[in-house]
Amino acid sequence: MKTQPRSAAAFPAIRMRRNRKADWSRRLVSENSLSANDLIWPLFLVEGTSKREAIPSMPGVERLSVDESVRAAEEAVSLGIPVIALFPHTPMEKRDPMGSLATDPDNLVCQATRAIKKAFPQIGVLCDAALDPFTSHGHDGLMDGDRILNDETVEALIKQSLIQVEAGCDIIAPSDMMDGRIGAIRAALENAGHTDTQIMSYAAKYASAFYGPFRDAIGSSGALKGDKRTYQMDPANTDEALREVALDIAEGADMVMVKPGMPYLDVLHRVKQEFGLPTFAYQVSGEYAMLAGAIQNGWLDRDRVILESLLAFKRAGADGVLTYFAPAAARLLQQR
Ligand code: PBG
Repeated sequence: MKTQPRSAAAFPAIRMRRNRKADWSRRLVSENSLSANDLIWPLFLVEGTSKREAIPSMPGVERLSVDESVRAAEEAVSLGIPVIALFPHTPMEKRDPMGSLATDPDNLVCQATRAIKKAFPQIGVLCDAALDPFTSHGHDGLMDGDRILNDETVEALIKQSLIQVEAGCDIIAPSDMMDGRIGAIRAALENAGHTDTQIMSYAAKYASAFYGPFRDAIGSSGALKGDKRTYQMDPANTDEALREVALDIAEGADMVMVKPGMPYLDVLHRVKQEFGLPTFAYQVSGEYAMLAGAIQNGWLDRDRVILESLLAFKRAGADGVLTYFAPAAARLLQQR
């Protein structure tokens, strides 16, 4: 059909589609981008050698023995992923109410940290500070009856942080949501001469249903009694998240995290706007399970949905994302 000449008034004053007309133009005007440098890859550890164990609620994710975690670290290095995060699976017979294994320098996290840093000193290793992978009740802290004890838990977190740093951990990430733990861990690290250890605090961590598959992965699902609502945040709140972040910064956090990720992009955005420090999002196990399940069924386009979900975090203000899709995303980014 031939275009008829029209009066100027009939044309849109601005045509937004001009900038979108070609790939080169879309690349030129794009406001945000995703790279392998933005990724933190969480790994699950299991006892044994040459072992990789499937996690049914996280299709495509496996628990790795220490030697296999070193191979994963090698993969991360080759893909340009700057940091890996380590989470241990602990069978019920090795758990107790105190989470004693958390402070054992020979636990899986410390073993893997030593092995990975020995083989690949150039990669960053992040370790959680929290007791839940080790407690028989599945809670992040010590308990008295059905109460989670704050200050006693912080003492245990200090010991856990110190042994992890002594094993070679670069970033301590307290995920327990006890009050005052960032300041206490920071002071203990300084006193012990670990002045270079970074702290990435799970500053705004919500009591979320999206952590279900993670609890399967670390062997906590059957264990957890009740819920974590007396220490993790109420999903209804955002002003409170800003207070949590402000406190953790004042106590010495170098970086902060918002968790879960996609359902909490508004919180992420406010935190980055308000404080401007390195801010991370955790695309948690339940988010992974939703996407991986839909991908497996052919309901979502794998490559596109992985990259779009991660780019959304960048747009909302994240400097990086903890994601189980890290190696897949890094590979896709190499192909582009
Ligand atoms: C431990 C911890 C949890 C996650 C990271 N560290 C679970 C929880 O708080 O119950 C969740 C990560 C995920 O779901 O991928 N405190």
